[in-house]
Amino acid sequence: MTVIVTGGAGFIGGNFVYHMLEKYPKYKIVCVDALTYAGNMETLDGAMKNPQFEFVKADIADRDAVYALFEKCKPDYVVNFAAESHVDRSITNPDIFLRTNVIGTGVLMDACRKYGIKRFHQVSTDEVYGDLPLDKPELFFTEETPLHTSSPYSASKAGADLLVNAYNRTYKLPVTISRCSNNYGPYHFPEKLIPLMIANALNDKPLPVYGKGENVRDWLYVKDHCEAIDLILHNGKDGEVYNIGGHNERTNLEVVKTILRELGKPESLITYVTDRPGHDMRYAIDPTKINRELGWLPATRFDDGIKLTIKWYLDNRKWWENILAGEYQNYYEKMYGSGN
Ligand code: NAD
Ligand code: TYD
Repeated sequence: MTVIVTGGAGFIGGNFVYHMLEKYPKYKIVCVDALTYAGNMETLDGAMKNPQFEFVKADIADRDAVYALFEKCKPDYVVNFAAESHVDRSITNPDIFLRTNVIGTGVLMDACRKYGIKRFHQVSTDEVYGDLPLDKPELFFTEETPLHTSSPYSASKAGADLLVNAYNRTYKLPVTISRCSNNYGPYHFPEKLIPLMIANALNDKPLPVYGKGENVRDWLYVKDHCEAIDLILHNGKDGEVYNIGGHNERTNLEVVKTILRELGKPESLITYVTDRPGHDMRYAIDPTKINRELGWLPATRFDDGIKLTIKWYLDNRKWWENILAGEYQNYYEKMYGSGN
């Protein structure tokens, strides 16, 4: 079996590469990544020497490059993680989100049609469902929840999902889609809430909480997510959507306070900053379908996963310090001001 993993130099794709190499030593894993600011070859250090692994630097929206790659490696499966993934960046620069997330997905599926494929799997997000109100904790996202997006990021992901459904119906391309909640764990780029707060706390810098910090996210440990995608890829039904996540809801403030407590840092580091425009209030997944059909439930409770994650950031300082020392510094100053 040959599996193309796009976006494998990023956070979840990188974890998925390791998951697949370990679990399926006979599979050939080809990682395709454009190495944007979010892609990091250091994430793939542990895979590069594995003869079953190959890295190809390419843009998924570059049709010639994608077709040449498919021609050469004739994949059985494609798992598409490649995306612009940060909501805040989509608010300042939506264009690149449309190009990579929508056009890129279309180009990959055209290649799948041209060269034949067992399954194209699209890694989507629960953000395509919009948000839930804070005062109705009994509500959850199911696969039937209507798409109702808030940010250019989520709109571009919803656009891609619709295109995937259309290719399934019109061209009978074998596809599945998964919509997961917020991931956390090793190799998470430090512009996102959890790694940003861990890095700032370790550096005794202010922890910038948007608004009142009352927004709720349903935290999914990245290794549980990889397990779920693996199950869907091999056993999921053609044309189906599966929600991944559940039962790990926390307010942002709870998350930040947990990190400070675990690191023995004072809550006085918390700084409330201007809220994100259009900020989604609550995300919460109902995982009944994937549990019933594929036997998956999240194995890692947030209280355990956050400890594992903090330990990883303590043990791998070089990985994230290299990012903080580079071009990311400019983004941080623009976003939060040079005083923070
Ligand atoms: P990430 O930003 O850490 O990594 C994205 C990777 O894609 C990077 O390595 C980047 O270089 C690569 N990439 C970007 N544009 C590309 C292009 N045009 N061609 C090829 N490669 C390109 O993202 P992540 O957090 O690992 O997310 C992976 C996927 O999961 C995304 O599709 C995202 O929408 C989805 N998702 C993420 C989360 C989360 O909590 N992180 C939650 C729900 C869904
Ligand atoms: P983020 O990690 O960007 O993921 P998403 O927006 O996709 O859910 O943000 C998670 C939550 O944390 C979200 O409610 C915004 C909030 N947040 C902050 O309060 N401060 C920050 O500096 C960041 C990056 C996020």
